[in-house]
Formats: sequence, C-alpha cells, structure tokens
Amino acid sequence: MHISELKAKNFRLLKDIDIELNSGMNIFFGPNAQGKTTLLEAIRLISTGRSFITNTLKEIITFENDHFFLKANILQNYLPVEIKFGFGESKKIIQVNSKPLKNLSDLIGIVDSVLFVPDDFNLVTGSPEIKRRYIDIQLSQAKNEYLENLKAYNKVLKNRNALLKNRNYNKNEMQTWTEELLKYGTLIIMERKKSVSNLNKFANEYLSIISGNKENLKIDYKTIGDIETDANIKNQFRILMEKTHQSEQKLGFTLIGPHKDNLEFYINNINAKKFASRGQLKSISIALKFAEADNLKLLKGYYPLFLFDDIFSELDETRKDNILSFIKEEQQTIIVSTNHNRFVSQSNKKDCCIFEMSNGKISLNSR
Ligand SMILES: Nc1ncnc2c1ncn2[C@@H]1O[C@H](COP(=O)(O)OP(=O)(O)OP(=O)(O)O)[C@@H](O)[C@H]1O
Ligand SMILES: [Mg+2]
Repeated sequence: MHISELKAKNFRLLKDIDIELNSGMNIFFGPNAQGKTTLLEAIRLISTGRSFITNTLKEIITFENDHFFLKANILQNYLPVEIKFGFGESKKIIQVNSKPLKNLSDLIGIVDSVLFVPDDFNLVTGSPEIKRRYIDIQLSQAKNEYLENLKAYNKVLKNRNALLKNRNYNKNEMQTWTEELLKYGTLIIMERKKSVSNLNKFANEYLSIISGNKENLKIDYKTIGDIETDANIKNQFRILMEKTHQSEQKLGFTLIGPHKDNLEFYINNINAKKFASRGQLKSISIALKFAEADNLKLLKGYYPLFLFDDIFSELDETRKDNILSFIKEEQQTIIVSTNHNRFVSQSNKKDCCIFEMSNGKISLNSR
C-alpha cells in the first residue's frame, strides 16, 4: 500500500502543494521551519483521523485563511482509493472514493502508517496513557473489531462511573454495566497481550541489530493480575472487580480494567525508563516502530507507510547505519530531515526520490 499523490491547501505552511510520491523511499530535506513535520502531520491525519501535533483542527489552517483541504490518492492492493479531508467553519468533510464518512475514526485502517517523531522516547518513559494509545492505534489499524470493542468499553466505563457516583444506584443496572465491562475489557486485554508479545519478539530482534548484539529488549505488559492463559482473564478480572467494589463505591470510579494498563521496558533486564541513555531510549522507540510495521504486515498482509521525522539525532554512526539497513523497498517510507547526505548514499541502492522543502514549497531534487 502506498500514497501515489498528495495535495494540500492552506495546511499550515503548506499553502498549495501537489506532489507525486515514490512507492519506495522519499526524502524531504530543508532547514528548520520549512514545513517538513507539517507534511508528516498531513499524511498522519489522513491515516488516523487525528493530528499528532494538535487536537484543534482550526490551528492547522494557514493563518488568515478559513479552511484547509487535503487529498491523497492511494494504491491499496493495486486498487485506487481517494481520500479527501477538508475543514473549515468548525465543520469537517471527509470522503473516501467520494463517499462521506460519518466518524473520524472510520478513516483508521484505510491508510495504515507507522510514525516516528523525536519525542517518541515517551513510549518508554511517558505516562501509561501514552503507552495505551500507542498500542490502541496500531491494533485499531490492524483490526476494525478491536476499535469497535475499545469504543464500546469506553462507553460502558463512562456509564458505570456515572452510576458509581450516584450513591443510591440501582443494583441491577450496576450488574449489567459490570458484565459489559468484563466482556469488552477481556477482549481488549486478550488482543493487547497477543500484540505486545509479537511486538516484543520483533522489537527485540531489531534492538539487538541496532546495538550490534549488545542489547536485548523485554516488554512487560502490565494489566489486571495473573493472565498467563487467556481462559483465566475474565475470571481473574471478575474476582478483582468484586474485591475492589467497596473502594470503587467510595471513590466513584472503576478501579480495575484495561483503562489502567501500562507497559514497562527492560534493556538487558534493567528498567529502561529509569536507567537507559538517550540513545538507548531512541533505539528502543525505533525498534518498536519497525516491529509495529512487521506486526501490521502479519495481520493485514502488507506493510504500512513509514513516516520518520528526524530519525537520527542522538544516535552514533553505527546505530544509524544499522537502522538504515531495515528500510525495505516494498514499504513506502517518507523521511524528513534537515540533512539528507546519509540517506543519499542509501538511495544509490534503493529506488528513491529526494525533495527539497523551502517555506512550505516542495521541489523534486532528484530521482
Ligand atoms: N497555521 C499556521 N499557518 C501558517 N504557518 C504555520 C501554522 N502553524 C505553524 N506554522 C509555521 O510552520 C513552521 C513550522 O513548520 P514545521 O514544524 O513543519 O517545520 P520543520 O521543517 O519540521 O522544522 P524543524 O526542522 O525545525 O523541525 C513554523 O515556523 C510555524 O510558524
Ligand atoms: Mg520538524
């Protein structure tokens, strides 16, 4: 799957661009503040329905304008798909092959992408919420059913919490919400457990290569109690819910469930959040991204798009070369960087387009 053409109008610094992308490697280079990250923001918006920079779409509109517009032509298993995304006067218009979509989340799973940005070391050191979102986005891209279960779980959780705040709640109603929470919560935990296990296997292999066989990675999925076997999950979940029910009533919210899940990372059995260096943290997050792509390939049969922002800062020369060796020709890769020398040597080996960015304008430098 790849994007063949991308148009953007009034998208921050990108006032009017229309570019043809290569199905393999694409490098965009230019000095600071020329619109490089913005280009990735546009592509990721089409892919996930969300900006990774802001929750306020209005901020994206080029200053002194009143709307932005994106159009992407995609080839998915040799079939053309056209996505249009417009926003203005507080209204979004999203169309896939000229058919309007109701929800932003309906975009997820059409153009799959894996994004790397420099502050992704947060996946290792950041809050449990960041880690859950990371797993949720990739599982939602891979399986529509997961996204539906997640939405259902969040709705049940909201309703159950509202009921817990009411001291004289109806016991039958509570029972119904608890059963629903157990049902959807168990499905989510099962999927996350499987996904983290695969991610761990692939990411460990990548980290080992990046580090020249010096480092191994272990990802610990922290969820409700003991979930060694899938059959045990619902039972364990139910027991813990019963145990904490009194406290829940006092506090007024649900204490147990996948909305509390977390991930912990270990390099050579040492807690990475506490002890890893900046280069090691960056290496883990890059290994995770390549692993995420392998996971998606396994589940969907094709690679997602790779979007890489400033991938090499803080890494030594050997690590940079090791990472470049992972990039596959059959995978569309979009790299933005202030410096393209390292990628150019790579382009001799691989099919590659190099673009120059200047004040939101893009010109083809070489092919
Ligand atoms: N809504 C907007 N309208 C016009 N310009 C904007 C808007 N939002 C941001 N910008 C401008 O876009 C520029 C930032 O673009 P971007 O983050 O894409 O740069 P970059 O090329 O990735 O730079 P760096 O190399 O520093 O990461 C800023 O100078 C900012 O003022
Ligand atoms: Mg940038």
